[in-house]
Amino acid sequence: MAIPKAELHIHIEGTLEPELAFHLADRNGITLPHTDVHALRDAYSFTDLQSFLNLYYELMDVLRTEADFHDLAEAYLTRAAAQGVRHAEIFFDPQAHTGRGVSLDTVINGLASALDTSLERHNISTSLILCFLRDRPATEAMDTLMAARPHLERISAVGLDSAEVGNPPEKFTEVFAAAAELGLRRVAHAGEEGPASYIWQALNLLGAERIDHGIRCLEDPELVSHLAATQVPLTVCPFSNVRLRAVATLADHPLPALMEAGLLVTVNSDDPSYFGGYVHDNYRGLQEHLGLDTEQLRTLARNSFTASFLPPERRRALLAEVDAYTF
Ligand code: ADE
Ligand code: ZN
Repeated sequence: MAIPKAELHIHIEGTLEPELAFHLADRNGITLPHTDVHALRDAYSFTDLQSFLNLYYELMDVLRTEADFHDLAEAYLTRAAAQGVRHAEIFFDPQAHTGRGVSLDTVINGLASALDTSLERHNISTSLILCFLRDRPATEAMDTLMAARPHLERISAVGLDSAEVGNPPEKFTEVFAAAAELGLRRVAHAGEEGPASYIWQALNLLGAERIDHGIRCLEDPELVSHLAATQVPLTVCPFSNVRLRAVATLADHPLPALMEAGLLVTVNSDDPSYFGGYVHDNYRGLQEHLGLDTEQLRTLARNSFTASFLPPERRRALLAEVDAYTF
């Protein structure tokens, strides 16, 4: 069994495997603009974040009913359990669904119907993180937050994702302040393709408690010192960075430099269906291509629980499991 770990950077829509996409398309009477599963997988060759997002949003069209969102989440949980995941904080993109006529109730009720039993059936505790699409207006994000109010007991945090460059965190200052007022935790994608200044903005203007990706912090030594001192976690996604060409190869990934600088680094899968592997596959990739040893993998697993929003008791229990794990 793979080492116990938390997954803190996973977009549920990014777990849509081609087989499930075709199955849901059939069920909903939709014709996909790809001949078959193999042709679709062949389309998974990206040049940057936007080239991926184009396909990611296109394929979401197959998600129409509560049953579709249920099946998507259930398929992810089944795979995650096999990868040693014991806790998952799961991003979802409401605006990508409401914008094409699928209601927020359909999305959340469908996801929740799988997540509500995941602890019993998969031994995985879960929560949802509602992400705002940063390439849409801030007013739309605020409307989305307000519409989500009846569902807040299912949602632990808000996040910020989609096309980063040109959509700085400062655009969402008011929305994140409103989310904090509602008692939600805050995270944000920053420093994936965007500059280190976006990470500063996420911290200082949005009150982000974790930075998703954040690898470009290395361009700003003062920021690295700040992240080391505050232990604000980074949710790093190595396979994603290579597939979206933020990093040339896995062997060039800056994860060892981030760890050596004393940052609270976690490893995650981002959009595993599109990027060639789930979270433990990322751990294994780091072992193989960057020579991480088993104690470094244990540190990453420990960090994943430390960086989570878990209540202290379950966090302690899971950390003890990591410490007792034998490779
Ligand atoms: N949405 C899904 N995956 C994403 C990523 N890696 N960056 C920004 N937005 C995303
Ligand atoms: Zn992401």
